[in-house]
Amino acid sequence: MLSELPASALYSSPSLGLLWQKVHLLCSPYVVRRSVQKLYERPAPALLSLLTGKSYHWIALGCADAQKESLLSKKIPTPASFHAADTNLQLARRGTERFTTPKKSYVSIDLTSPRMPSSILRVPKPWFITLFGVLPNLDPLPLLRRLSREMQPGDLLLLSANLAPGKSGFVGARKILQQYDNPPTREWLEAAVARFRPRLPKGYLVFDVFPDPRQKSLARIEARWISGRRRTIVFSSRRPTPTQVESWVRKVRLRTLGHFLEPRREEGIWLVTR
Ligand SMILES: C[S@@+](CC[C@H](N)C(=O)[O-])C[C@H]1O[C@@H](n2cnc3c(N)ncnc32)[C@H](O)[C@@H]1O
Repeated sequence: MLSELPASALYSSPSLGLLWQKVHLLCSPYVVRRSVQKLYERPAPALLSLLTGKSYHWIALGCADAQKESLLSKKIPTPASFHAADTNLQLARRGTERFTTPKKSYVSIDLTSPRMPSSILRVPKPWFITLFGVLPNLDPLPLLRRLSREMQPGDLLLLSANLAPGKSGFVGARKILQQYDNPPTREWLEAAVARFRPRLPKGYLVFDVFPDPRQKSLARIEARWISGRRRTIVFSSRRPTPTQVESWVRKVRLRTLGHFLEPRREEGIWLVTR
């Protein structure tokens, strides 16, 4: 028997938000490696030429406390407004505090639901959407399809993907398994299991690499909660190759304007439009 916790179950309470932040501070390649921080500044020249002189509105989806957005904002024109949207409202509120734009908002959002909240849909165009660190946790195609439907020509989407280094997603994902199977990540995921309702039976966590259930050629790092014969997927992180990300973009009828890979090719950013 195999079931799966929704990704939001790992972030949606203030205490889980704090545990995730601890994992982020101790283990995230973004915090630990300067080259990954630089990756988030690399789209700046392209964005400068696309956004200069435009009154644009920034929608930061799944932004947590908007650390990456804040770094990028120092290198690009100031938006007319900034909107942080995350399943964890406390983190989204902290995200807006990093921005000094006169107009800003934060909202709790479920990116797996078929419609975006009306407060987001009412944000004037053109939109600059950032979607950092979200595609590993959520089913990418339905989410990108919904975003594509709401975008108009002139809107921009900047998305990040955690990549599997090398040519084979499965071999690459195995090489980086230790980034997940470590004490702070276990503490965070075990807390999410303890909070989850209906309660999961007593068990233990095992990390491994599996094919994504909806796209068999896509490698997914999973943390599974094992209790007897029952297995529950508690956490998953998709690790596509750059070619797989490009095929998602094409499938949802978006167009790539540029893409950027960090030197170890474990993370990439795509700038796309309609
Ligand atoms: C891995 S963190 C990435 C945070 C931040 N963007 C970054 O890159 O550091 C995933 C983020 O997505 C949010 N999230 C998870 N599931 C979500 C959902 N269903 N709807 C909206 N946000 C979600 C979490 O609260 C968390 O802030």
